[in-house]
Amino acid sequence: MSLPVAPDLDPSPHVVAVELVAAPTKVEILSGHKSRLAAYSNRLPGPVIRAKRGDLLKVHFENRLDAETTVHFHGIRLPNAMDGVPDMTQPPVAPGETFDYEFELQDAGLYWYHPHCDTVAQVGSGLYGAILVDEPDEPAELGDETVLVLSDVSVDDEGNLLPVASGAAAVVTGSEGNVVLVNGRVHPTLDVEGGRRQRFRVLNASRARSFRLGIAGRTFLKIGSDGGRSEYPVVVEEPVIAAGERLDLVLEPLTEETSSVELTARPISRGLPLAPSAEVPLMKLRVVPSESPPSAPLPDLSREIAPIDAAGAEEVPLALMMQEADGLWTMGINSVPGTDAPPIHAQVGSTQVFVVENVSVYAHPFHLHGFFFQPLDPEGNVIHPIELKDTIDVPPLETVRLAVTYDDRPGMWMFHCHILDHADAGMMGMVHVAP
Ligand code: C2O
Ligand code: CU
Repeated sequence: MSLPVAPDLDPSPHVVAVELVAAPTKVEILSGHKSRLAAYSNRLPGPVIRAKRGDLLKVHFENRLDAETTVHFHGIRLPNAMDGVPDMTQPPVAPGETFDYEFELQDAGLYWYHPHCDTVAQVGSGLYGAILVDEPDEPAELGDETVLVLSDVSVDDEGNLLPVASGAAAVVTGSEGNVVLVNGRVHPTLDVEGGRRQRFRVLNASRARSFRLGIAGRTFLKIGSDGGRSEYPVVVEEPVIAAGERLDLVLEPLTEETSSVELTARPISRGLPLAPSAEVPLMKLRVVPSESPPSAPLPDLSREIAPIDAAGAEEVPLALMMQEADGLWTMGINSVPGTDAPPIHAQVGSTQVFVVENVSVYAHPFHLHGFFFQPLDPEGNVIHPIELKDTIDVPPLETVRLAVTYDDRPGMWMFHCHILDHADAGMMGMVHVAP
């Protein structure tokens, strides 16, 4: 069940050149039925783009869909012109056209790529893939590594893709597919060697769904999230991952006496009026006899991350709101739908604190393009362990404070809810970083 890696077409060291083609494709999701989806390079999810920190990544993209699209590289600190936002950072890529993306990978971590046009439909049809950036000396002792792309898809009994649900209720809850996928498959089995530690690089590529992960009787060591490793690891029983987020999880070895364990998605609710989701078995871990020596002890996992000094920084209040009038929902930030909102102004080198207040009874995973932020406590101090985040779930009626320092990449950058239905309905805005 491990995902294919996009071949590197450039032999020079420190350059990774890949080709991505967005095109209709047929995938067997329900056994015995072919689903007509759209995907990158005929794979669901798209191939993993693998590189090392410091590499130059070149993506030659071709659009063979019958609709306009772009590729957004979620979480990567890239130049604004490479951010893949249609009509803002680039013209949309028309059917039959190509676009070349090129940027340096400044940070190790798990990132992802997806369209930024008509996202509910395009991501929902299967257009998403992972980008794994290693440290040049990534420690192998962390565990046998598997990238897990969690997603879902809306299909009927014959595997036919269902049209995007419309109507107020569908927009409010967001598009949750009825079939949950791990690496594009329903409840796959992963063979793990007895006595070997596992490292799971988890991406939630769903349009709306959140996952609360669990393995009965086991805990995980959470060693990182969106922008690579955290300041120090923490033990977590049920790691939660909202749409757009990533997790770096370590699972201590299973012994050969255990034949298998189940990774499940446990019930979770994304809003006060919503019933918790049903428990879904995600993946079976089947223990196979070990061919390798048992895992060595974990190395020191601390990472020095300079805390952002937010004292005196400008506060930017952002209220996430949803309003119903005559059966129609408007979503926006500070009462303004994204398309009408004036941009926030910032400057290269400056620090701001986004005070994101969720005034609705639904959770919203808030995502900022192009920059990492550090969550702060109510007193304005950085929360430990420090994490470099680009997406954070804001629970119903709660407020989070996020410190961001704009490094030297001026331009117009988006932020939005990563429940794609909400973003499309207006829960987005822009920050203009002036040179
Ligand atoms: Cu992953 Cu603007 O999105
Ligand atoms: Cu939302």
